[in-house]
Amino acid sequence: MSTIRSEEIARFNRLAATWWDSSGPMRPLHVINSLRLDYVLAQIARHCGRPHGDLRGLRIADIGCGAGLMCEPLAAAGASVVGVDAAAKNIAVARLHANQSGLSIDYREGEPNVALGPLDSFDVLLLLEVVEHVDDVPAFVADTSARLAPGGLLVASTINRTLLSYLSAILAAEYVFRLLPKGTHRWSQFVKPEELALAARACGLQPIDSRGMLYLPVLHRARWSTHQSVNYIATFGKEKAHAP
Ligand SMILES: C[S@@+](CC[C@H](N)C(=O)[O-])C[C@H]1O[C@@H](n2cnc3c(N)ncnc32)[C@H](O)[C@@H]1O
Repeated sequence: MSTIRSEEIARFNRLAATWWDSSGPMRPLHVINSLRLDYVLAQIARHCGRPHGDLRGLRIADIGCGAGLMCEPLAAAGASVVGVDAAAKNIAVARLHANQSGLSIDYREGEPNVALGPLDSFDVLLLLEVVEHVDDVPAFVADTSARLAPGGLLVASTINRTLLSYLSAILAAEYVFRLLPKGTHRWSQFVKPEELALAARACGLQPIDSRGMLYLPVLHRARWSTHQSVNYIATFGKEKAHAP
């Protein structure tokens, strides 16, 4: 069974050329990126017991990577990065941009169960703003988590399915402030934190942390929030292998 929703991938392919334009349709991703990056680095530092921002020797896969907004800073910090995306044009733009940035990133086209092989294994897996665009979230999380090394981390960010998320992430963002192209999100596809946690637990991952994010549309800023009723990010951990 595929996790790909073809109409979503067609839409992302049409947007690929605008991906690195920080005032274009991908502006919200550019705005939240430094907050997400800081969160990912903090989780890695705490969980792996290494200095904040030192990713040397870590294997990271960014699933649904778009054209590489998160892959690039992670590779620049020393990680060995694989970026996976089902939209071929995103992968083409990502490769071109990484070349221009002088970064070596292994970009692969496809969904995780196709793009990642049985020998692929990662210390950190990222699912950033992607689960709300896929078919069958538990299968997508399972296909991804199968590649997580013992003791590894999975970090996922997405949008909760609440009345407030309908009003802010769809009505306000797509129709009032026009932050995102109309049709970017479907409310029914949003994922509640408990659904994400259930999918992760089914793969043997334990919740470690979760936090709400707030997007301020007029200011084009993002900051942490005390609630998770719209955007949120969560970390799950896989148990370390026991010595025989
Ligand atoms: C909203 S974008 C997020 C991009 C990136 N993670 C970020 O936050 O900067 C969602 C991305 O997920 C990709 N995608 C959607 N469904 C997918 C699937 N089943 N497998 C792999 N990639 C998928 C889309 O092509 C798109 O690039």
